[in-house]
Amino acid sequence: MKSVYLSMVSKTEEATSTFGEDISKGLSQQPKQLPSKYFYDAKGDQLFQDIMNMPEYYLTNAEYEILDTQKSEILELIGADTFDLIELGAGDGTKTKLLLEHFLEEKADFCYSPIDISGNVLRQLKSDLQRRWPELCCEPLQGDYFKILEDLALTHDVKKVILFLGANIGNFTRERAQAFLEHVGDYMRQEDMLLVGFDLKKDPEVILNAYNDPAGITAAFNLNLLERINRELDADFDLDQFKHWETYDPITGATRSFIVSMTDQEVRIGALEKTFHFDAWEAIDVELSQKYDVPMIEKLAREAGFEVVKNLYDEKRYFVDSVWKKR
Ligand code: AVI
Repeated sequence: MKSVYLSMVSKTEEATSTFGEDISKGLSQQPKQLPSKYFYDAKGDQLFQDIMNMPEYYLTNAEYEILDTQKSEILELIGADTFDLIELGAGDGTKTKLLLEHFLEEKADFCYSPIDISGNVLRQLKSDLQRRWPELCCEPLQGDYFKILEDLALTHDVKKVILFLGANIGNFTRERAQAFLEHVGDYMRQEDMLLVGFDLKKDPEVILNAYNDPAGITAAFNLNLLERINRELDADFDLDQFKHWETYDPITGATRSFIVSMTDQEVRIGALEKTFHFDAWEAIDVELSQKYDVPMIEKLAREAGFEVVKNLYDEKRYFVDSVWKKR
């Protein structure tokens, strides 16, 4: 997952800032804010896997169900004999394997290109896929999404089907989501297709439970960011003096994670040669997981230069994989 975020360098974001610079900037702001892309070190990756396996984190199963039950429809929507299947952020490919298997069974002529910044993730995925389907054309591409999309646009002449799964778009503000999607659109042609996964507004209790699980896995995931700062930047955050707090606003759909300081305290970050003060109950804003409704998705598509071709839902309508074409 780490790689998903690091390769999402959009037009609106500096590509060059380092971990230390971002932490220093975020903790100097009012209110304090830390970028969620830094959740994903080795421990954070493992905790995120654990989150995806939690019964409360319905997102994974909902999207799995969509791809499983509607894979034939997806192939029909692609409607081409030959295409490139490009995935932004490879992960372990669990959900994508459903599509790959179906497309192979249907003898579609396609090549799968997962894009990720981590060579390690891509090597593992490729060897796994080759063991399973030796006949699969798989060309992993390592690096920044947009650089690779640009290269593909210049060198590949076949239809492109681009996947951006897992509600990763929800971790962007509305403004950044639009900028990101516009940028993806810059490398698409009229016949190409984009499939974006959105988590939908639903019973607020269901949403809050997914991000505030009783086992405390999400809390550990968020607090690991402070541990990471301790480890990598020689800081002295006392994790027992901070707690995870989650909110969901059913009007805007914003689901926010905070880390709250339980006491008035100072934290020294050695590598930055700085000390930061936290008031008792002062909060650090650490993550946005935006929930959408259909009009919001349609507006986002339109304003980013796309039209919605079809929305594919799970049975409970918890999640949607929205199929887009350029306008
Ligand atoms: C990666 N992303 C889509 C997850 C989400 O649901 O926003 C990250 C996450 N944070 C807490 N739980 C899961």
